[in-house]
Amino acid sequence: MPAIVLVGAQWGDEGKGKATDLLGSRVDAVVKFNGGNNAGHTIVIGDEKYALHLLPSGILTPGCVPIIGNGVVIDLGVLFEEIDGLRARGVDTSSLVVSASAHLIPSYNRTLDKVTERFLGSRRIGTTGRGIGPAYADKMARVGIRVQDLFDEEGLRAKVAGALTLKNQVLVKIYNRRAVDVDEVVDELLAHADRLRPMVADTSLLLERMLDEGRTVVLEAGQATLLDVDHGTYPFVTSSNATAGGACTGSGIPPTRISAVIAIAKAYTTRVGEGPFPTELLDEQGERLRSVGAEYGTTTGRPRRCGWFDAVIARYAARVNGVTDFVLTKLDVLTGLDEIPVCVAYDVDGVRHDEIPMTQREFARATPIYETFPGWDEDISSATTLNDLPKNARQYVETLEEMIKAPISAVGVGPEREATVTVRDLLR
Ligand code: IMP
Repeated sequence: MPAIVLVGAQWGDEGKGKATDLLGSRVDAVVKFNGGNNAGHTIVIGDEKYALHLLPSGILTPGCVPIIGNGVVIDLGVLFEEIDGLRARGVDTSSLVVSASAHLIPSYNRTLDKVTERFLGSRRIGTTGRGIGPAYADKMARVGIRVQDLFDEEGLRAKVAGALTLKNQVLVKIYNRRAVDVDEVVDELLAHADRLRPMVADTSLLLERMLDEGRTVVLEAGQATLLDVDHGTYPFVTSSNATAGGACTGSGIPPTRISAVIAIAKAYTTRVGEGPFPTELLDEQGERLRSVGAEYGTTTGRPRRCGWFDAVIARYAARVNGVTDFVLTKLDVLTGLDEIPVCVAYDVDGVRHDEIPMTQREFARATPIYETFPGWDEDISSATTLNDLPKNARQYVETLEEMIKAPISAVGVGPEREATVTVRDLLR
């Protein structure tokens, strides 16, 4: 089984951590290929709940090599805080590997993220404030600082000085902040260098060797399809490629190695931050989804915006990612509803759209066209096959499958690893 990509089909927080965890002990390596500590996976194993932001979820699976790929942006303080937190709880983190080409998030990028958002006012993106956008902007502007730069102090100092030449002008003259000192930044970065060094490798080469040996590699996206900088709801997106294509550029694995793309979609929809969200519910039904689904950000604690399942975006995710399997999560959150609306198309200024409109201006004005399905009251949390589900829950799953035009291979019915309906093996 070669490389498998795992992506979010909506606006993030679909439960990718659980899906990776479901693949479990049969996976030899899990690679995070984009994003940084803006992500948040909550994984529940037995009575233990783990919230991961930067580390790949494979870190919790004994025998699995967790890899931070070149496409990730790393806040070193957060990396070691997360490692220490896991170690204190008895998790072995010694097999973590970090790409020498991954970019770092120096503290000035966190500062810039926050002041830029404040400056944008009502046009803000609602970022996580972790410096993600500025770090990727630096990467593209070719003034980024990479992991490998930590091992060449002179070169590092020159690069930091180069990056700060313009940034200090912006900080002082536009944002009225104090200039950042080159030495302070260099010291802050070098403080982690010795500890990081043994973890650093050419991860593209390492992955090629693993795949040649027939090992199974999962490439796990941070964020999700609609937050992808190219294919998402721009500019209300993150600054990296969170779709399947990003798995190649962010890890150094060629497209020809990828055999499956698994997309995770919640049985309803959520979004954090600003931007269009056609099925958003601003009433007590949205509040119900938020409280029953515990929809508060893992990273920022912000309440998530909640709404009904949107088959248009799920179908779009199936298309742009080439999805081979969907994992539908949190079906149990819908238990107890009399009726469940599903968005099947949009109305934009009186015109029906079965696909996402071409422009964001139209998408922002899209209102959902719903079909409504009967709900169920039975507790579904111990179901393990589709036949264990009440008729209406099963019908809901089967109808979504038809609408999104890709097979739903697993359905989450509760937070624990075991609370899953398996339709077919994801690693077949
Ligand atoms: P940034 O990634 O911090 O720049 O934030 C850009 C947008 O992506 C904001 O709307 C964030 O709320 C959103 N975002 C970033 N990471 C996640 C995530 O892991 N889940 C959900 N939304 C996210």
